Amino acid sequence: MTDDGRDESGKGAANKREQDRRGEGRRITERKSETVRAAIRDELADDAPESEQRAADKAEAGESAAVIALDHVFLAFDTPILEDVSFVARQGETICIVGESGTGKSTTLKLILRLLVPDKGSVSINGEDITGLTFEEALAVRQRMGMVFQGAALFDSMSVFENIAYPLREHTDLDEDEIETRVREKLAFVDLDPDRVMEQLPSELSGGMRKRVGIARGMADNPEIMLYDEPTSGLDPLTTGTITRLILKLQRELNVTSVVVSHDIRSVFRMATRVAVLNERKIVFFGTPEEMAASDDIYLRDFLGGY
Ligand SMILES: Nc1ncnc2c1ncn2[C@@H]1O[C@H](COP(=O)(O)OP(=O)(O)OP(=O)(O)O)[C@@H](O)[C@H]1O
Ligand SMILES: [Mg+2]
Repeated sequence: MTDDGRDESGKGAANKREQDRRGEGRRITERKSETVRAAIRDELADDAPESEQRAADKAEAGESAAVIALDHVFLAFDTPILEDVSFVARQGETICIVGESGTGKSTTLKLILRLLVPDKGSVSINGEDITGLTFEEALAVRQRMGMVFQGAALFDSMSVFENIAYPLREHTDLDEDEIETRVREKLAFVDLDPDRVMEQLPSELSGGMRKRVGIARGMADNPEIMLYDEPTSGLDPLTTGTITRLILKLQRELNVTSVVVSHDIRSVFRMATRVAVLNERKIVFFGTPEEMAASDDIYLRDFLGGY
C-alpha cells in the first residue's frame, strides 16, 4: 500500500514533470512561431513599397480574368497525389506553391504545362479547358508559357546564347538578327551583360548566373505565363534576393502571370500575391502572405515555424 502510494506519488511527480516539460516545449514552439512570424512581419514591413505595389496588383487582380484555373483536380500515379485541388491565378498574379517534399508541387506545374492530364477535374488556361486538347493543340498552349526548371536545367554543351535562342529557333520564325536582338534583350532584363556571357558555357557561370540564364530562356518567347520550379534552391541569401526581385520585375513590368514553387518562405512572402499550401494531397491554405502569417492554423504555424 505504502509502496503503491509511493509509486503513485512518484508517478504523479513524473507526470507533473512531463506535463511541465511539454508545457515548456509548447511555449518554446509558440515562441519560435511568434519569432518567425515577427520576422516575416518585419520582412514585409521592409518591403513596404513592394507590399503596397502588391496591394495595388491585388486590387487589379480582383477584377482581372482567370489566366490559370485548376478545378477539382484529382491525380494518382501508384498512389493518389492530388485530390480535389482547385485554385485560380489571375492576370498579373504570382501564385507561390509551398509544401513538403513529395506533396505534388512539381506535378501541379506539369498539369499546367499539360505534360500531365488530371484523372478527374480540369485545368484551364485563359478560360480554355486544356485537358482534352490534341498533342499539337497542347504544344501551342505550352508555347504561351515559359518554364524555369529546378536547377536551371541548361544545355551544358551549348553556349548561353544558344540556350536562350533554343526556344526561339524551335517555336518562332525569327531570323538570326532578330534572335540575337531578343537574346540580348532578355540577358539585359536579367541583369547579365550580353557581351560578357553570351559565348560562355553554363559550367563557366555561377549558380545565380545560371538561374538568371534559365529565366532569360524561360521568357525568351515573351510568354504570358511563367512557371518556376524552385528558382532559388541552392543559392545564397543575397543571390536568392536577386532572383526574387527578378521574378517580381517580370510580374510588374511585363504583367506576366506566374506560378512559383519554392521552399524559401522568405522569398515566397516577398513575391506572392497568394500562397497555396499543399499538404496530404490537398490545398490546405490559399491566401495572401499576410493572411498566412496571421493564421492560427496549427499546420501553418508549424510549417512557418520550421523556417
Ligand atoms: N511520373 C511519375 N510517376 C510516378 N510517380 C510520380 C511521378 N512524378 C511524380 N511522382 C510522385 O508524385 C509525388 C509528388 O511528386 P512531385 O515531384 O510533384 O513532388 P514535389 O512536391 O515537387 O516534391 P519536391 O519538393 O521534392 O520537389 C511523389 O511522391 C513522386 O514520387
Ligand atoms: Mg518538385
